Amino acid sequence: GKSGYDHYMLKEIHEQPTALRQCFSGRSDALAGTVTLEEIDEIPQPNAVQFVACGTSYHAALYGAAILREMGIPAEAYLASEYALSPPPLTLGTLVVGITQSGETADTLAALRDAKSRGVNTLALTNTVNSTAARECDHAVYIRAGPEIGVAATKTFSSQLVGCNLLAEELVDGPRDLRPLIESLRNLPDDVQSILDSSAAEELVEEYGGSDAYFFIGRGTNVAVALEGALKCKEISYEHAEGFPAGELKHGPLALVTPDTPVFAVVTGDDERARKTLGNIKEVQARGAPVIAVTDGKSNAAEIADETLMIPETEERAAPVLANVQLQLFSYHLADALGRPIDKPRNLAKSVTVE
Ligand code: M6R
Repeated sequence: GKSGYDHYMLKEIHEQPTALRQCFSGRSDALAGTVTLEEIDEIPQPNAVQFVACGTSYHAALYGAAILREMGIPAEAYLASEYALSPPPLTLGTLVVGITQSGETADTLAALRDAKSRGVNTLALTNTVNSTAARECDHAVYIRAGPEIGVAATKTFSSQLVGCNLLAEELVDGPRDLRPLIESLRNLPDDVQSILDSSAAEELVEEYGGSDAYFFIGRGTNVAVALEGALKCKEISYEHAEGFPAGELKHGPLALVTPDTPVFAVVTGDDERARKTLGNIKEVQARGAPVIAVTDGKSNAAEIADETLMIPETEERAAPVLANVQLQLFSYHLADALGRPIDKPRNLAKSVTVE
C-alpha cells in the first residue's frame, strides 16, 4: 500500500534515502578509495560508450555520458527510439549501455538488439532483476531501488544517477582518489532526507501555481536535471513545462519568457558553468520572469534569484541528485494542488512495451 502517503509518487520520493543506500551498499571501499561493481569487474575499459534510453532514463543517460566524457571517455546519450533507425557508427571496443528502470521498454530493447547485432558488448543498467534487458544484454548492473509503482519515475532516476557513477568508476581505469566521491555518495541518503524534511517547494506552488508555463535551465550535468524537472512537471501536472540547456535560451526559448513564466535555474558549484548560468538568470529576470534558484549556495545564485530551493553542499557529481529531489517535490505539489491523478497520468503507462 501507500503507507499513509496520499500517492505512490510521494511515498517513492520519500523512499529515496533507502533506495540510494541500497544502490551504493557494498560497492565501495572508503578507506582504499575504490569502487567495485562485481557484476562487471572483468570488463576492460571501453574505447567509447553509447547510452540508449527513453524518457527519464534518457536524462540519466545524459548525465552518465557527461561524467564519462569528463573522465576522458568518448560517450554519448541516444534516444532509443532514434538509435536503431539511424544507428551511430560503432567501433570495436564500444560499449552500449541501456538504461531502463523496467528493463522492458520496447524502444530500448530494440536499440540494444541493434547494437548487439552489430557485434559490440551491451550492458543493461536496470532496476528489474531478470528483465528482458538484463537477460538479453551481455552484462547487467542493478540499481536496487526497489519496486516503483507510480508512473512518474522518481527514486529510480536518483538511483540511476548513482548507478552511472559506479559504472563509470568501475569501467574507467585508475588510479584516482575516489574518497571525496565515495564520501558524497555515502552521505546522499542523509542529504536527500534533509531536503525531504525542509523543502520549500510546496510554498512555491502557492506563489507560482497558475503560471502560463514553467521553465527549467541548467548546464553540464544539470542539463539532465532541467530536462527531468520539466518532464516530471508536464507529465503529472499537465502544465506547460520545458527544460533547456541554459546557453540555448537566447537562441529561441527566451521569446517565451514573461513575468508569468517562472524559471527554475539549477546552479551547483561555483565554476564557469555556474557563473554562466548566473548570467542566464539575469537575462530572464530582465524579461520579468521570477527565478527560483535550485542551489547549494556555493555561487551567489541565491542572492540574485527571487526564490531559492536550497540543497546541502556536496561533490559536483552528487549535487544533481539533490537538485532533482527539490524539483520532484515542486511538481508533485503543483499536481496535487491541481487535483491531478498523480500516480496514473492520462495517456501514460508505467512500462512502454510497444515501439
Ligand atoms: O522503464 P524505462 O526506464 O525504460 O522507462 C522509460 C520511460 O518510459 C520512463 O522513464 C518514463 O519517461 C518515466 N516513467 C516518466 O516519469
